[in-house]
Amino acid sequence: MHVLIIGGTKFIGPYIVRQLLESRHDVTVFHRGQTQADLPPSVRHILGDRRDLAQYAAQFTQFAPQVVLDMIPATEHDGVILMQTLRGIAERVVAISSMDVYRAYDRLRMADPGPPDAVPLTEKAPLRDQLYPYRATAKSADEWTYNYDKILVERAVMRDPQLPGTVLRLPAVYGPGDRQHRLGKYLRSMDDRRPAILLDEQMMSWRWTRGYVENVAAAIVLAITLPQAAHRIYNVGDEPALTEQEWIRHIGQHAHWSGRVVGVPGEQLPEHLKQDLDCAQNLVVDTGRIRSELGYAEIVADDEAIRRTITWERAHPLEDGAPIQDNYAAEDAVLAAIGAVDGSTNQAKQP
Ligand SMILES: NC(=O)c1ccc[n+]([C@@H]2O[C@H](COP(=O)([O-])OP(=O)(O)OC[C@H]3O[C@@H](n4cnc5c(N)ncnc54)[C@H](OP(=O)(O)O)[C@@H]3O)[C@@H](O)[C@H]2O)c1
Repeated sequence: MHVLIIGGTKFIGPYIVRQLLESRHDVTVFHRGQTQADLPPSVRHILGDRRDLAQYAAQFTQFAPQVVLDMIPATEHDGVILMQTLRGIAERVVAISSMDVYRAYDRLRMADPGPPDAVPLTEKAPLRDQLYPYRATAKSADEWTYNYDKILVERAVMRDPQLPGTVLRLPAVYGPGDRQHRLGKYLRSMDDRRPAILLDEQMMSWRWTRGYVENVAAAIVLAITLPQAAHRIYNVGDEPALTEQEWIRHIGQHAHWSGRVVGVPGEQLPEHLKQDLDCAQNLVVDTGRIRSELGYAEIVADDEAIRRTITWERAHPLEDGAPIQDNYAAEDAVLAAIGAVDGSTNQAKQP
């Protein structure tokens, strides 16, 4: 099968490319050439900006991709132009979406008041009532956050009568190459031999569906290669969804960290750890549909996923410019105030 990937060279994309090549598919990536990945030489590159996607229709026609994977659709316009351009060229389109389409996401960030939505969220769970979740953070209409909305992307992709669409709603993705350092943020404290990691006490038991990048890529490859994925929307994620406390402990075991996870009331947290979230809303999705319809199963077990990620994170430490010693001093003050560390040894007291 010939697969065209819009994007494909940053974090999740290269894993998808390699898995497709291993299964002997041909891959072309369309991107601007600003993000380079170490992809095998058999991968064809078309350099261009997706804002001009329609101008590349003739090139796309030449090598006739059967399936187009759009890794980066962000706006309604992206979705509409994608389908218009590929109609008559490709047989199917797969588009990458996110758990941020669910109303639960707005409940969590307190953008939409109301009782928590029941979890796990199936693909039929209520979507956000309000569009453009990040518009308030945009300084101008030119910023991507202004028009970003995966709900509108999904509608454009799924309503096309001639070109079947598939939507994959991704969880929080972690693994080697994660520039958000979802795991690295905790690992830094562990490797700095911090006696404790502080959390808002409500976040201790908050659950979030995460996905190790190679597993997420495997789910995407199934949606590309299996025709029964046409016209379907799938949640993607690893099971089980750990609480934040379990997640940190799990990382700690593999990082050989002997500290404790300590929950404190939100108002006692140092400023750098405060978050405006309603943790009564868990963000856990039901991944049963992709498992039963496409035969998805994790290809990398969670222990190995954490080990591989820790190795990468240690080789690519966080460079976020955070005043780390100031942060640690603020955390120490809280830990001392609640008696969670032994002042003479700076070791965590066991609960
Ligand atoms: N990471 C997570 O936790 C998470 C969670 C939920 C959903 N997602 C979704 O996952 C997707 C991103 O994954 P990824 O970054 O790993 O994807 P990726 O496909 O590995 O990387 C993004 C690609 O887009 C290309 N690109 C960026 N702007 C472009 C433009 N204007 N025109 C053409 N190409 C462009 C980049 O190359 P150039 O720079 O060379 O153009 C790069 O190849 C997004 O849809 C995101 O919403 C991620």
